[in-house]
Amino acid sequence: MEIIRAKHMGFCFGVAGAIDMCHKVLKDEENNGKKVYILGMLVHNENVVEELRKEGFELVEEEEILSGEDPLNPGDVIIIRAHGTTEEIYNILNKKKVKIYDATCVFVAKIRKTLVEKEKTGYNIVFIGDKNHPEVRGIISFGQKVQVCADLEELKKIEIDKNKKYCLLTQTTLNKKNLEKIKSYLENTHSNVKILDKICGATQVRQEAVEELAKVTDVVIVVGGKNSSNTKKLYDISNNFNSNTYLIQDDKDLDPEWLKGKKRIGITAGASTPEEIVINIENKIRGIFNA
Ligand code: F3S
Repeated sequence: MEIIRAKHMGFCFGVAGAIDMCHKVLKDEENNGKKVYILGMLVHNENVVEELRKEGFELVEEEEILSGEDPLNPGDVIIIRAHGTTEEIYNILNKKKVKIYDATCVFVAKIRKTLVEKEKTGYNIVFIGDKNHPEVRGIISFGQKVQVCADLEELKKIEIDKNKKYCLLTQTTLNKKNLEKIKSYLENTHSNVKILDKICGATQVRQEAVEELAKVTDVVIVVGGKNSSNTKKLYDISNNFNSNTYLIQDDKDLDPEWLKGKKRIGITAGASTPEEIVINIENKIRGIFNA
């Protein structure tokens, strides 16, 4: 049995930066006697969030802040997660005089900026992404009137006025192939839609790498958080090419039955999955199968 890793996998630049920021802030602010909160899940991985809790961070949810039931006091410190948050949350936090450290990934912040600029110059915004995902909710909250579509099917249902100009933006973790379908549809039907592909580089190389991996392996193990959008996309892409694809959060979820009699085991991990978790899974496989 051979374990083959995807060429690109695991922590992305944005997640690594957010975790780094947390450690620096905790060190500085704890010395000042301040409580340090993280807004929601810093990154979509429960293991990472659990570790941060153990280190002394407290979690506060957007819902608590919106309903006024949060524990935040003036002078407390809060770190905004890598996916960012909504304009309303920034406003409330500022009003409360909470000290904000912003770990919003630079790619997410750039989309937000583009959206605002494009609306100012008269574009109607169409956003392709999951409307329930925190990244999307955060970005579109900065717009005046944004139409969100999950995919090409939904896009076909919205009304696009031939006499107006539109700008199409995307979630950073969108499936590249789905975007290609959307692009070719719009290019053939609506010349008044400017398409700005905002899939981040880390997402793109991980998606290409998992496709390559799925084609040459007998089983693919995708490691990542259950709520992680980029992990789900990796799973979907792999599953398209290899039906023996399994999504697990850590070594406890690994079922040895999946690997019995298989020769080439592929492994990849979402952008918020720590290397340590992948190593534990590899070690478990090696331990069971003598690989
Ligand atoms: Fe940023 Fe892309 Fe990672 S948007 S958080 S580098 S998946």
